[in-house]
Amino acid sequence: MSSENLTIDNTTSTPTSLIYRPRRLRRSATLRRMVRETILTVDDLIYPMFVMEGEGQKVEITSMPGCYRYTLDLLLKEIAELHQLGIGAIALFPVIPEAKKDDTGSESYNPDGLVQRTVKAIKEAVPEILVITDIALDPFTTHGHDGIVDENGMILNDPTVEILVKMAIAQAAAGSDMVAPSDMMDGRVGAIRKALDAEGYVDVRILAYSAKYASAYYGPFRDALDSAPRFGDKKTYQMDSANAREAIKEVALDIEEGADIVMVKPALAYLDIIRQVKDYTHLPVAAYNVSGEYAMIKAAAQNGWIDEKRVILETLTSMKRAGADLILTYFAKEVALMLQPKNLFSNI
Ligand code: PBG
Repeated sequence: MSSENLTIDNTTSTPTSLIYRPRRLRRSATLRRMVRETILTVDDLIYPMFVMEGEGQKVEITSMPGCYRYTLDLLLKEIAELHQLGIGAIALFPVIPEAKKDDTGSESYNPDGLVQRTVKAIKEAVPEILVITDIALDPFTTHGHDGIVDENGMILNDPTVEILVKMAIAQAAAGSDMVAPSDMMDGRVGAIRKALDAEGYVDVRILAYSAKYASAYYGPFRDALDSAPRFGDKKTYQMDSANAREAIKEVALDIEEGADIVMVKPALAYLDIIRQVKDYTHLPVAAYNVSGEYAMIKAAAQNGWIDEKRVILETLTSMKRAGADLILTYFAKEVALMLQPKNLFSNI
């Protein structure tokens, strides 16, 4: 027999002699579930939430329908509900009144500041839920940048890191389970780790926004916090969206400096980066399904142009398939509802 005859070539076979029929395994829902490679679960989800000063208020964010800025009392109610739904973690972002903002974001490390008070209250009310606090100056600065700005408009790295460290300590003292530097200053993960350890917070984890790109997808989030930069852009600290190798460099540095989890942000336009980071490290990888990604789906769904639930599940599953172990997403509550056992079969 010639070696040619040994080759199985479906393209020249008659249909009746086909050996490989991948469709066999797609014939029924049961089979499809059995061979499904990626399963999205509520354990994968982290819910970003916005807290503001005041009482008894919940204000919808125009560019993020279904997302709200909550006052602390209503936030606690919502968190109790999220816990019931099985959501394990929230990421907290504060809306800081203009009057409390300054050039250096000093309100960020006020022990009685909004974030610190909120963390304490959550840990008292729903201690099981993991609270992740953001480390960056933008909600606290008059100019809206993540760092301190000099007279020429340059963002100063090392003086900013000094403030970020104070912020981390204040958050840890309030009971934060995990701090998440989202500012992209060089060396901040190492500085924060060192300071946390020195203060005795050895178990406070660091979720590093390692590969955070200068992205137009953050627009609605900046509306939510009123934190859009008053001048310039964030391109001297956040990454150029054209770069992939640089993401690995950033991830490598954050790991060396002590990150517990590394993150890629945004997620959808950066699935290739999520995969490369996953292949590079054994640490858990997080992805941030950002505000603009959320807004696009909501807007199309409101117009009746897409099937919202299916698009949400398909999108988040793509992130997990790309390598994300954790997904920060404004869809977390909706997805947790969809994934409740009683709803499960109708949606997947
Ligand atoms: C700021 C921060 C941003 C987001 C999270 N933390 C915006 C920015 O960098 O300007 C974006 C989140 C989103 O768009 O959902 N440090």
